[in-house]
Amino acid sequence: MNETLNVSAPGRVNLIGDHTDYTGGLVMPMTLDARTTVIGQANTRRVWNLVSHHEAEPVSIELPVVDPRSITPPWGRYIAGVLYEFNKLGCEIPGFTGEINTTIPIGSGLSSSAALEIAIARIVISITKIAMSETDLALLCQRAEHIASEVPCGIMDQLCIAVGRTDTATLINCHTLNVQHIVMPEEIEIVTRFISQRTLAGSEYADRVNDCHAIEAIIGPLRVATTNDLSNLNDDRLVRRARHVITENQRVRDFAHALTVKDFVEAGRLMAASHASLALDYETSNSTMDQAVNSMLHESGFLGARITGGGFGGCIVGMRLRD
Ligand code: GLA
Repeated sequence: MNETLNVSAPGRVNLIGDHTDYTGGLVMPMTLDARTTVIGQANTRRVWNLVSHHEAEPVSIELPVVDPRSITPPWGRYIAGVLYEFNKLGCEIPGFTGEINTTIPIGSGLSSSAALEIAIARIVISITKIAMSETDLALLCQRAEHIASEVPCGIMDQLCIAVGRTDTATLINCHTLNVQHIVMPEEIEIVTRFISQRTLAGSEYADRVNDCHAIEAIIGPLRVATTNDLSNLNDDRLVRRARHVITENQRVRDFAHALTVKDFVEAGRLMAASHASLALDYETSNSTMDQAVNSMLHESGFLGARITGGGFGGCIVGMRLRD
């Protein structure tokens, strides 16, 4: 029981395919070098005591977790959510005392919360030896995220972090959860730039998910819809939301193909088109993010740039040719 466990999980940046995962569409994120690390020891008590180098207060979570949302300070809810989900599977979890460190900037849209969930889940797995596939691990952490943040997120972040490989993009079909690993061509470099702090909790993220539900009630699953289906929608807002999702799924396919055939100009064009669609049709950008994307596109060597992740702030991602 006294063995020291040291587990880490990376952040992620999404290259293309935003706001497509929660309707079972396509996404293409990749893991970052920045990571969250959890180090500690299991014990025979029934409590998880954790300190974070990035939070003022430690957290103490008694097992079994009854209501993850009641945990304070709030950062402990992500951990409590994971423990709660393992408990629901009938998993007997011992106590744990440890510390958390991260190089992922928190609240920047690089999935620091998903990395924390995956790292905690890996600790639980290594203590309990419960057998679980990477996909089920990601799904468990997605449920934990739903509970902890109350944001109805898709599966992209947790699945990319669970299965992603270094310098390799993860093309995910969010309906089948099939994953294709695409090694990034050496000629290009992905640049992630932090622009502004944001949180998806309480943002319009949930409104966008609801818009998609409303669209699907009329035209059926967005993941298989085409732009011909748009004529069946009467509401202008829903037309724009649907157009984004339908065209973004196609852009992911085209981007993956462009990388494979090394057509980097086309790949860059698709990133910029994705940004325009998110800004104009999906309305998850803002003027600060638009300006940042625009100025990156004018920097030497950049072929593409876009807002990345949930939006409303956060980071932009760009692609440039290596010197
Ligand atoms: C957040 C969510 C993801 C995904 C993106 C937008 O990162 O956690 O599931 O929906 O926003 O693509």
